[in-house]
Amino acid sequence: MTHVSMTVNGKPVTRDVEARRLLVDYLRQDVGLTGTHVGCDTSQCGACVVHVNGMAIKACTMLAVEAEGAEVLTIEGLAEPDGTLHPLQEAFNAHHGLQCGFCTAGMIMSAASLLEANPAPTESEVRHHLEGNICRCTGYHNIVKAVMAASGQDVAALAAE
Ligand code: FES
Ligand code: FES
Repeated sequence: MTHVSMTVNGKPVTRDVEARRLLVDYLRQDVGLTGTHVGCDTSQCGACVVHVNGMAIKACTMLAVEAEGAEVLTIEGLAEPDGTLHPLQEAFNAHHGLQCGFCTAGMIMSAASLLEANPAPTESEVRHHLEGNICRCTGYHNIVKAVMAASGQDVAALAAE
């Protein structure tokens, strides 16, 4: 077992884990943050996306020990401490960017990294950025719309799904 310490959603977290423990399993099973999902075993679906030191990563592709000392942000830490939702969370709700919700945490964490780097992305930039996130329900259109709306852009011109 290896002693691993990191900051998760602003709080210090320390656990003893096997060296082979994936970060996504560490977050879900050891820390109890189950908002981050596991949707595949091939690193394709993006349901597991979290931020590590400000970068969006698929948490199934990283070992917990590799995140030693890192700042990790999961979907549970995205809203304000007083419960005010992040603009992306509001927009996914307002624009029906989810159905079953399984992909949503990963979608939102990926989109959040896009908006940090590019506060007003075009539709094609949003679609390109979310290529690593798979949704089985929505057809993606309302997800793209929600991301653009969260960035303050007028989405009325985008055709309704
Ligand atoms: Fe990580 Fe699917 S669970 S990409
Ligand atoms: Fe169901 Fe995306 S909302 S997988």
